[in-house]
Amino acid sequence: MTVGVLGSGTVGQDVLNLIERRKPIFEDVGVKIEIAGVMVRDVNKKRNVPAGTRVTTDCDFLQECGVVIETIGGVDRPLDILRPYLRSDRPVITANKAMLAERWDELREYALDGKLYYEASVMAGTPVIGPMSTVLRASTFNKLQAVLNGTCNYILTQMEGGQDYAAALAGAQALGYAEDPPTLDVGGFDTAHKLAVLARFCADGNFPYSAVQVTGIENVTLADVQDASRNGEKIKLVAELERAGTGWKATVAPQRLPADHPLCTAGATRNALVYEGDECGTLIFAGGGAGGMITASAMVGDLLDYLLGFPGHVPLH
Ligand code: NAP
Ligand code: HSE
Repeated sequence: MTVGVLGSGTVGQDVLNLIERRKPIFEDVGVKIEIAGVMVRDVNKKRNVPAGTRVTTDCDFLQECGVVIETIGGVDRPLDILRPYLRSDRPVITANKAMLAERWDELREYALDGKLYYEASVMAGTPVIGPMSTVLRASTFNKLQAVLNGTCNYILTQMEGGQDYAAALAGAQALGYAEDPPTLDVGGFDTAHKLAVLARFCADGNFPYSAVQVTGIENVTLADVQDASRNGEKIKLVAELERAGTGWKATVAPQRLPADHPLCTAGATRNALVYEGDECGTLIFAGGGAGGMITASAMVGDLLDYLLGFPGHVPLH
C-alpha cells in the first residue's frame, strides 16, 4: 500500500514514526506499507522522521498513492492540494477539524461514501467519533457537554496555579498543543470546529459550523480562575449541544463547574465528553486530546481500519 503524507510537523512526524514502529501490525494483515512521499513547505528543516523518507515541496506523488494522510492544517490550503486526488475517489485520513467543519459542503459526499477517516479530529487519540458513528446511533441522542481543547485546558489549569495567561499559552505552544494561529484555540473556534464535527454524527448530518455560538477564554482573568478555585469550582471552556425546540443549540463558552464534575476530574491536559442518550444512558469519555503521538495513534488506527476494509466515518444521512 503506497501512502502519501501531507505535512511533517508535530502530528505528521509522529504519524511517520508510528507507521515505522508498527510495521508488524500491517504485516499481520498482509500489507507492506510504502511511504511515497511527504509534502512540506521547507525541505531544509530538520525533522525527526524515519531514515530515507522522501521529503518534498511537490505534491505529484499523490497520484501514485492508495491512501493519503493529511496533517498540514488550515482550511483551503490542504483542500486545494487534495482536490485532484479526491476526484479519483481514494481515501483521506485527516485530523483537520477546521477543514471538516468549514468545508463540509465539499467533503460531505466523500464522508457519506466512507472515504474520509477522521477519528483524530476530535479528542485526538481518545475515540469518540468511532462510537458516535456506529453503536451509539441505536440510542436517541439528547445532549453532550465536552472539554475539547487541550490548549485552553492547559492554560486554565496553569492559571489555577497562579501562572499568567501569556506564559501559560506559551507553555501550551511549546508542548505542541496549539493551533497556528493560537487564536483558533483561545478564541473557542477550534472547540467549535470539533463540536460541529460531532453534531453531524448525533444531531444533524449537515450541521453547519456557523450555527455554533462561540465565546473564547481570552477574557478569563487570573482573578476569575482563583475565585472559582476558592469556591470549589473550575473554569473550563465547555462545548454543549442540546435539543432546542425542533432543532439543536450548539454553544462554546467558558463555564464555572464544580471541581468534581466529570469535565473537571478528567485532568489538566485531558479532554472529556459526557454523552446523554435515552437508551444508552450517560456515557463519559476522557483522555488525551492534543499532542503529536496521541493524534498519530488515531490516524494510524484509521489507516489500519481502512486496510482491514472498514469504511471511514459516515455522518448521519
Ligand atoms: P504543524 O506542526 O504546524 O505542522 C504542519 C505541517 O504542514 C508542517 O510540516 C508544514 O511544513 C506543513 N505545511 C504547512 N503548510 C504547508 C503547505 N502550504 N504546503 C506544504 N506543507 C505545508 O501542525 P500540527 O500541530 O502537526 O497539526 C497538523 C494538523 O493536525 C492540523 O489540522 C491540526 O489541527 C491537527 N491536530 C493537531 C493536534 C496537535 O496536538 N498538534 C492534535 C489533533 C489534530 P514545514 O514543516 O515545512 O513548515
Ligand atoms: N489545538 C488543539 C488543542 C489540538 O489544543 O486541543 C488538538 O486538536
